[in-house]
Amino acid sequence: MRKAALKPSMESPPMAHDRKQSDSRIMAMLHKRAASIEKGESLTPPIVNAAKYALPGAPDHPYPYGRFDNPGWGAVEDAIGALEEAETVCFPSGMAAVTAALMATLKPKSRLLLPSDGYYTVRVLMDEFIKQHDIETTEIPTAEMTGHAVEGYDLVWIETPSNPGLDVCDIAAIAERAHAAGALVIVDNTTATPLLQRPLDLGADLTVSSDTKALAGHSDVLFGHVSGRDETLMARIRNWRKLSGSTPGPAEAYLAYRGLMTLELRLARMCESAHELANLFYSHKAVESVRFPGLADDPSFKIASTQMSEPGFVIGLTFKDEETAERFITDCPAIFAATSFGGIQTSAERRARWGDDVAEGYVRLSVGCEPTAALVQAVSDTLDSL
Ligand SMILES: Cc1ncc(COP(=O)(O)O)c(C=O)c1O
Repeated sequence: MRKAALKPSMESPPMAHDRKQSDSRIMAMLHKRAASIEKGESLTPPIVNAAKYALPGAPDHPYPYGRFDNPGWGAVEDAIGALEEAETVCFPSGMAAVTAALMATLKPKSRLLLPSDGYYTVRVLMDEFIKQHDIETTEIPTAEMTGHAVEGYDLVWIETPSNPGLDVCDIAAIAERAHAAGALVIVDNTTATPLLQRPLDLGADLTVSSDTKALAGHSDVLFGHVSGRDETLMARIRNWRKLSGSTPGPAEAYLAYRGLMTLELRLARMCESAHELANLFYSHKAVESVRFPGLADDPSFKIASTQMSEPGFVIGLTFKDEETAERFITDCPAIFAATSFGGIQTSAERRARWGDDVAEGYVRLSVGCEPTAALVQAVSDTLDSL
């Protein structure tokens, strides 16, 4: 959207994000393992490559077999759980977490309300595998989710901000109405992370995340998690992992743990640079329109400013055509041309190349951790050259 405010900014600190509470969750996450280890144990969790554990006699130990549990899963689950303030089960990818949440909650004849503009693989999974089990889905755009009727649905799936369009919907309002109508609410919180948005505090039953993105943050591992505060539901999620064998590798769990330790630092830089870049795009003639939930005239601004602590690090920008968009991506020395988002290096891609319902010139830009001034300069020079 264009062009009302010069400085995109959130107006007031959102109620769900008391700074002191957020700091205390980060402290708990960072020190969780230290508080649970004995003299001589390493501060970092060990990578335990185990299919077998010693198991004489009754099989009553927490580690009976590699598919049941691994010490490295516990370490990363405890740390993510300290941020989410909820029980957490980790998975080998975001899609494995999505699948677990669906398999633990859907039954034959379930009716599911789903965003038509969220991560497309979730819809493909529905079409190819889940709907055949007599499950009915209705797809509506994220921007219409807040006011949409929820009666008659068993599950409301939310992705906010949506990927790639960056629309948002009101989690608390939807959760209240969905619960009154007897439906569960699951939020894919990938684009925000538990630091910028807290779906469980806003009433969601489960939150799922592709930790492949900002949470692990180094573009070197696929990972995911599901968190929730309902013991029965979380026991089902854990049981799904054990029975389906959707288990993360021990080295992957370690990489996710290590990335998580710097999440707050990385996000601070990414969000600061995203504000600066959104400003630049907003005022530059080479850019036709900008989507960023922190822009005062963006359709996402109002809800985002009450339910997110920061508008995030993903920006949508539309160039006049495919060729200009491709030139922007390939000519800019500070942009890595790749799919995915949330990594250290700023990266971008044209989402229409995957068939997303966006303009040919629409670019999803994931702002990275480069020094802000140098990044803005490099992007600005490239825009001037288009
Ligand atoms: C919003 C969202 N959810 C889920 C996923 C799936 O995550 P993964 O690629 O880790 O399986 C993605 C991946 O891009 C995503 O963007």
